[in-house]
Amino acid sequence: MVRDYHQFLSEVLITKEQIDRRIAEVGAEISRDYADGNLLLVCILRGGVVFLTDLMRQITVPHTIEFMAVSSYGVGRRESQGQARITLDLNTNIFGKDVLLVEDIIDSGHTIASVLELLATRKPRSLNVCTLLDKAQRREVEVPIRYTGFVIENKFVFGYGLDIDEYYRNLPFVGVVDLDKFSQG
Ligand code: IMP
Ligand code: MG
Repeated sequence: MVRDYHQFLSEVLITKEQIDRRIAEVGAEISRDYADGNLLLVCILRGGVVFLTDLMRQITVPHTIEFMAVSSYGVGRRESQGQARITLDLNTNIFGKDVLLVEDIIDSGHTIASVLELLATRKPRSLNVCTLLDKAQRREVEVPIRYTGFVIENKFVFGYGLDIDEYYRNLPFVGVVDLDKFSQG
């Protein structure tokens, strides 16, 4: 049974209104920066998909979208360990493109570092990262992040694309999990 999130929500960390406002700002910034570019937004599935769909509607320059899936956690784990595995690769050639990776959250940095390393070998014209959330204190490998929605503390969060065991991605806000209440359920 998938539980009602009210049973373990400790707080709403970022409201829908705050997310919308910030995405409008980031979208405007991207639109300025890529005015003369050949922009390709690469969404990292599945967490990045909610952010991508809102972000792209705030981007006013022509662009295309692509999807990639990476598995960083073992089944049922909540921390990534080292090298990520590409489970769905891009369908298009990124040579000469201005690639902007769209992620939900950067935690240890291992996932996005692996993706950056792989995509760099395909010689895009530029390769940058846009993340909604950054758990900066948790970083284990250095990753260059060009656009950040919000820097957050080291708490496990869910909603707005972020899952707990694949559920709750549909929630319009970012909430913090009360791990004690969660594990009691
Ligand atoms: P990293 O490789 O440690 O940077 O982990 C990045 C991935 O871990 C993200 O794409 C998320 O899928 C997942 N993740 C990290 N922190 C959280 C969290 O607080 N809630 C939900 N998913 C998370
Ligand atoms: Mg996840």
